[in-house]
Amino acid sequence: MPAQTLELHVNHRTHAVAAGPTTPLLQVLRGDLNLKGAKHACGLEQCGACKVLVDGRDTPSCMLPVREVVGKSIETVEGLARGGELDPLQRAFIAEGAIQCGYCVAGMLMTGKALLARNSRPSTAEIREAIHRNLCRCGVYPRVIRAIQRAAGHGPDAPLYAEVVPEGTDFLPCPQAETAALPASLQAYPNLDDWFRFSADGVVDVFTGKVELGQGITTALAQVAAEELDVALARIRIHTADTALTPDEGATAGSMSLEVSGGALRQAAAEVRYHLLTLAAEELEAPLAELTVVDGSVRHEARGRAVTYWRLLGDQPLGVQAAGVAAPKASAAYRLVGQPVTRLDIEDKVRGRPVFLHDMHLPGMLHGRVIRGPYAGARRQPGIRGGHAGLPPSTQVVEDGEFLAVLCAREDDAICAMERLAARCTWRTAETLPSQDRLYDTMLEAPGQTFRVVDGLPVAAPIPPLDAGDPGRTVRGRYDRPYHMHAALGPSCGVARYEDGTLTVWSHSQGVFQLRDAIAQILKMPRDRVRVIHAEGPGCYGHNGADDAAFDACLLALRVPGRPVRVQWSRRDEFVYEPYGTAMVMDVVARLDPDGHLAYWRQSITGYTHMGRPEAAAAGEATLLGAWSLAHPRVPPRARPSLARHVGLHRNGAPQYRIDETVVVKRFLGDSPLRVSSMRALGAYANVFAIESTVDDLARLAGADPLDFRLRHLEDPRGQTVLRLLAARMGWQRRPPRAERPGRGWGVAYSRYKDQQSYVAIGVILNVDPETGTVRLEEGHIASDSGQIVNPDGLSAQLEGAFIQSASWTLHEEVKFSTRGVTSTDWEAYPILRATQTPRLHTYLVRRDGHPAMGAGEAAQCPVPAAIANAIHDAVGIRLRTIPFTPNRIRRALAPDA
Ligand code: FES
Repeated sequence: MPAQTLELHVNHRTHAVAAGPTTPLLQVLRGDLNLKGAKHACGLEQCGACKVLVDGRDTPSCMLPVREVVGKSIETVEGLARGGELDPLQRAFIAEGAIQCGYCVAGMLMTGKALLARNSRPSTAEIREAIHRNLCRCGVYPRVIRAIQRAAGHGPDAPLYAEVVPEGTDFLPCPQAETAALPASLQAYPNLDDWFRFSADGVVDVFTGKVELGQGITTALAQVAAEELDVALARIRIHTADTALTPDEGATAGSMSLEVSGGALRQAAAEVRYHLLTLAAEELEAPLAELTVVDGSVRHEARGRAVTYWRLLGDQPLGVQAAGVAAPKASAAYRLVGQPVTRLDIEDKVRGRPVFLHDMHLPGMLHGRVIRGPYAGARRQPGIRGGHAGLPPSTQVVEDGEFLAVLCAREDDAICAMERLAARCTWRTAETLPSQDRLYDTMLEAPGQTFRVVDGLPVAAPIPPLDAGDPGRTVRGRYDRPYHMHAALGPSCGVARYEDGTLTVWSHSQGVFQLRDAIAQILKMPRDRVRVIHAEGPGCYGHNGADDAAFDACLLALRVPGRPVRVQWSRRDEFVYEPYGTAMVMDVVARLDPDGHLAYWRQSITGYTHMGRPEAAAAGEATLLGAWSLAHPRVPPRARPSLARHVGLHRNGAPQYRIDETVVVKRFLGDSPLRVSSMRALGAYANVFAIESTVDDLARLAGADPLDFRLRHLEDPRGQTVLRLLAARMGWQRRPPRAERPGRGWGVAYSRYKDQQSYVAIGVILNVDPETGTVRLEEGHIASDSGQIVNPDGLSAQLEGAFIQSASWTLHEEVKFSTRGVTSTDWEAYPILRATQTPRLHTYLVRRDGHPAMGAGEAAQCPVPAAIANAIHDAVGIRLRTIPFTPNRIRRALAPDA
């Protein structure tokens, strides 16, 4: 429909905009009024990320024709702060730390604002109900609920987390370790100027190869840097991964950022401080040992003289290599590390400022959309019925083999052109997928490569035969994990510009260096002619479509040199084309000895690769989706088994208890029916599910309390501490007898991530309705030992989010497919946990001052499914071994003959 001039009242101002009357309000707000707070996320009014207030009612704007709001009052998140003063609700979100990636926050705020306007004292149940239709992939529902309670002036009634110094002899402050070797990243980039620069304006620029994914890493790294340099946090300006600017520290994955980049920055900062003090000693003509530093000012108190870091360097680089000449501070001297510092990015996000890649606007930018088939692998047939007739006038059509895309000046035109062309294409699809009902059987029947896993490492060693043993003391079970989606709240996006022979790409990829290599290889460009810069996106939790969307943008940018191109996927394409978390089958046989001790464990793990990330591939191959449909197509690389320690299928594949004999077998399948890659915790989520469910069954067989049984077999004192802490805080020993709580169950589970990172024990209290098969999570308890705590609020947020996401996978999520392809194409077909289904969470953080910091976000993901399964067993006596635990499955398990 042709554009008309429409008058809109937005945030108490009147705007005249030229738009088609059926154009969605969201497009007008974002595209015409440059109000980027409301987010394009599903385009289907299913997720709430696009909500605004229309005459005071919270209203999704992604499908709302703009003509329907003419004459009405529209308020967006940008309008909440009056005269720059934050609204009380925004302040409450900041006080409660109610974001992770923050992509959902504008919608949450607008829903909360509307609720408080109609009900100034909502109950917790009313708050949950109000945000029921606002989805959050990162699991911040508990904090959003608390923020709305706080803004309403009633609560929250108790803190979300507690730091605990455990009693007993196993807690000893770690003595300062001798610096045996420089951290690996610092060895690779020993030039201290690669990590720190001191600009003349009193700012410290800090460079990290890791990226912000919503996990709060920029805040934690800023704390580490400011601490070691002795400068105020406000002086730190963090620069995240950029292939032209920062060290290459690999992908931001595996909960390793604090360990890898935090460790490097800590040591590098200590050395920078030492060299600056040496310069200051000369400048001040004072002994180095008598100097102190306050906020970057080096002082010699006796002489009353001082000089700042910035004056010492005069905007010049330091020009020194790291050599281990200075040790970082002892933890007893920390003043910033260990403090619950407010996230540095939270204010911009609650104000709705354009901080995401999806919000990026560059002069002359074009909007691209790629037309993809209904299923991954669908082949576009030659010809477009009706050609390009009727497309919006500015549309440029790009065709290269089966790759088909459009470029338009306006985003709504690009969407319109995409939809029209999609309807004119013919797609050939083949029935190549197995029946979903037989997926796990198909996997077990398929030929695979078999390895024995020893100490977390797959080796080509003989596999001992199964020791059948005494069936009366044996527990057997097959555990199934389906394909899961990353299901980021916002669909993938990429921006690229090709100019003067150089391709500059902005991506929310987790690994910009690897993405650069993949792009350069496919496009046959020198690597130094491709620059990839990370920009924030919605929380992705692994390798999703972000890299592919960036490559789509590259393909289009090459057609329009000098013009930036932004490509954003649709919700449907995101769900159909992203690489999934792989399906797995775990077969467990475990036995007790006559005294009730763990004697034998055999775990056979079958599944596909977890390692499909972008990289430069072999000739003729490519890791990026767009390259597979070009006129000169490349093919995806064949999956290979990962043979590194705790990488892929075999991560956390063995129990961590004392057992006489343990055999772990990895059966790697090469060809997954669906595209798969890395997803939070890799194989550990499924392996710990199988292990910790079996441990509960063994405890029952031994006539022992499940928690006591674990403690009896766990030798690691730090593991024992988190289990004991969990038991004490959740009242495990005081739980009522089962007979007094029909349908109500208590469950626990434990693991140490990768056998070397955070220790986490999870406790769950839930209710099962045997009529409907519905599980209601009442309480979730998380006890963690993650070594030195850098930011307790950030650590707790990661643990909370992991609990909620893992509960969501466990209770709700499964990629559905037909023999042609994936049929889970929207949030109705791929439901995730909602605010109304979220338990009350309690987090307990063990203080380990001075011990190495360990990542935690993935660690808490692992024990959750078994804790839920064990609680369900406790409640109604059924052992669930197939995820997700849907009401149907529970009803069938309760009445198998019905
Ligand atoms: Fe809600 Fe990431 S914080 S989607």
